[in-house]
Amino acid sequence: MAVRIRQIGPCFAGEVEGIDMRRALTSEEVAAIHAGMDKYAVLVFHDQDITDEQQLAFTRSLGDIEHAIGTSLRAPSEYRLPTTFADVSNLDKNNTPFARDDRRRLFAIGNRLWHSDSSFKAVPAKYSLLHAVRIPSKGGNTEFAYMPAAYDALDAETKAEIEDLICEHSQMYSREMVGFTDFTDEERQRFKPVLQRLVRRHPRTGRKSLYLSSHAGKILGMPVPEARFLLRDLTEHATQRQYVYAHKWRIGDLVMWDNRQTMHRARPFPAHEPRDMRRTTLMGEGPTVAQAA
Ligand SMILES: [Fe+2]
Repeated sequence: MAVRIRQIGPCFAGEVEGIDMRRALTSEEVAAIHAGMDKYAVLVFHDQDITDEQQLAFTRSLGDIEHAIGTSLRAPSEYRLPTTFADVSNLDKNNTPFARDDRRRLFAIGNRLWHSDSSFKAVPAKYSLLHAVRIPSKGGNTEFAYMPAAYDALDAETKAEIEDLICEHSQMYSREMVGFTDFTDEERQRFKPVLQRLVRRHPRTGRKSLYLSSHAGKILGMPVPEARFLLRDLTEHATQRQYVYAHKWRIGDLVMWDNRQTMHRARPFPAHEPRDMRRTTLMGEGPTVAQAA
């Protein structure tokens, strides 16, 4: 069966037919998916009744996996999933929803801020693949914003001003934004900031985009409040509704997005209901500071 992709909603989201993740991909299918990601940046695959192993195999057929080690407040003994997965659920290792005031939950809901996955790592994520295993009765959408279009719409003066800016990214900056500041010394060490360009160029399409994320908290050579206002203004601009696709989840959906071209955020849902989402992630090509904008 040939791979078909049709646009859903805005120009950067596509729905894929003809892929069954329970079996190995052909090289033609791999090429079609990469080409689809270059064109759309967000691809939706419905009705994927897959195991974790099948999700992992599908992910590995597209590139090198990024491991999730030490990126949350779960201790290694509390992991519900192997480190080949980022556990984006609200569940402890017994599959029970975290208590409302559990600090692991309060840290994790920082993903309701607009962000790009792993922008707090020196080599940030390329694609994220999120599979819906259990979903809440309401809410819990994921929204995506398309950064090349947001960049293109900036005026020439702003483009020139931001062209070579370098930001510091850390999960501590995003959590601080929502009043979560009680980090241990060990966590502060583990979440040390990394540097990322503010404007990046996609290696395959050649398009420039804004590399924004709520993890960005400082800009080199700029006073902090001024940097925060610039980042806030750019984020407000880039997340206007014309640049946004909101995905309403169905069980079995696997949504794949390109973190180099998009930001995303989770939306709220009832705290006591399980939301079991499992993310595999592909590593990016290298540090963005090493890339020419
Ligand atoms: Fe995320």
